[in-house]
Amino acid sequence: MRVAVIGGSGHVGTYLVPRLVQAGHQVVNVSRGRSRPYRSHPAWEDVEQVAMDRGGEEVQGMFGRKIRDLDADAVIDMICFTRESGRRLAEALEGSVSHLLVCGTIWVHGHSTVVPTTEERPRNPFGDYGVGKAALEAELLRRARIRGLPVTVIHPGHIVGPGWAPLNPAGHFDPKVFEVLARGAELTLPNMGMETVHHVHADDVAQLFAAALSHWGAAVGENFHAVSPAALTLRGYAEAAAGWFGRSAHLRFLPWEQWRQTVSPEQAAATWDHIAHSPNCSIAKARRLLGYAPRYGSLEAVYEAVQWLIANGTIEI
Ligand SMILES: NC(=O)c1ccc[n+]([C@@H]2O[C@H](COP(=O)([O-])OP(=O)(O)OC[C@H]3O[C@@H](n4cnc5c(N)ncnc54)[C@H](OP(=O)(O)O)[C@@H]3O)[C@@H](O)[C@H]2O)c1
Repeated sequence: MRVAVIGGSGHVGTYLVPRLVQAGHQVVNVSRGRSRPYRSHPAWEDVEQVAMDRGGEEVQGMFGRKIRDLDADAVIDMICFTRESGRRLAEALEGSVSHLLVCGTIWVHGHSTVVPTTEERPRNPFGDYGVGKAALEAELLRRARIRGLPVTVIHPGHIVGPGWAPLNPAGHFDPKVFEVLARGAELTLPNMGMETVHHVHADDVAQLFAAALSHWGAAVGENFHAVSPAALTLRGYAEAAAGWFGRSAHLRFLPWEQWRQTVSPEQAAATWDHIAHSPNCSIAKARRLLGYAPRYGSLEAVYEAVQWLIANGTIEI
């Protein structure tokens, strides 16, 4: 097939585009041409690059038409964030593509209730990002059911891989937390450290997109979580990460209001966002319908990212 990937040179695209090329597809990457894949791969030589700024084209009302004019059999949209943006693209592509795959987020669920959370749970999103993605998902799946839009929505967890800082055991993105654990120094966690995070390796997200593309009949009209087989508690994550360096985690716990005073406002905001969601999502549906078999557990995925942080000097061990 001819497959257009909108935003194919980011975290997921780094792995997805080579997978698609290797599967025999003719791939077009649509981006502004600023980002480079996080790792090189010879498959990129066979990829058609189309430079386009989605924001600018949407303002002009041209984005959907320009994507349709690429004449793709399937379109993978990695960078859609609102109902309106999704509706416009769907309207432009209806009747001309056999499959539209859109990237969502597990934030569509809001806070966890019955865990592991299945795709069928009622939505309770909060924050602009989660609310926007939930509205996008609702719009696309409604169109699938009412108008036969051949759409699949894929919801990744916290995407990790070599090349960028992973979500750390304190629930924010400062890589120095891994240095603290490696030194055996004290790390303070919010509350009891029992709130959860749910990572996924970027290559496993790519695997799920590719599987949805090749299982059209099972994937159309459906949504799927793209996460590792199991979420981590912050405490369990910190203990395991310390163990990578031959240490026992030296942990202290503080109630949220006190803990947040110990970090920067940005770090506190990131941690709050993660622990208020405390995601813990099921992959049973993706396993059953698409044969999803993640290569990485959460810890293996983060381990690889941390090895990269060490190798490139971001953290010193
Ligand atoms: N990061 C996470 O942990 C996480 C978790 C759950 C869900 N998600 C979802 O994952 C998706 C993002 O995927 P990703 O992390 O693989 O992407 P990413 O690393 O953020 O890369 C973004 C891609 O989109 C392109 N792009 C950005 N702005 C653009 C614009 N205005 N016009 C055209 N192209 C543009 C970038 O290339 P240029 O810069 O060259 O334009 C790049 O190819 C989003 O839908 C997000 O909600 C992410």
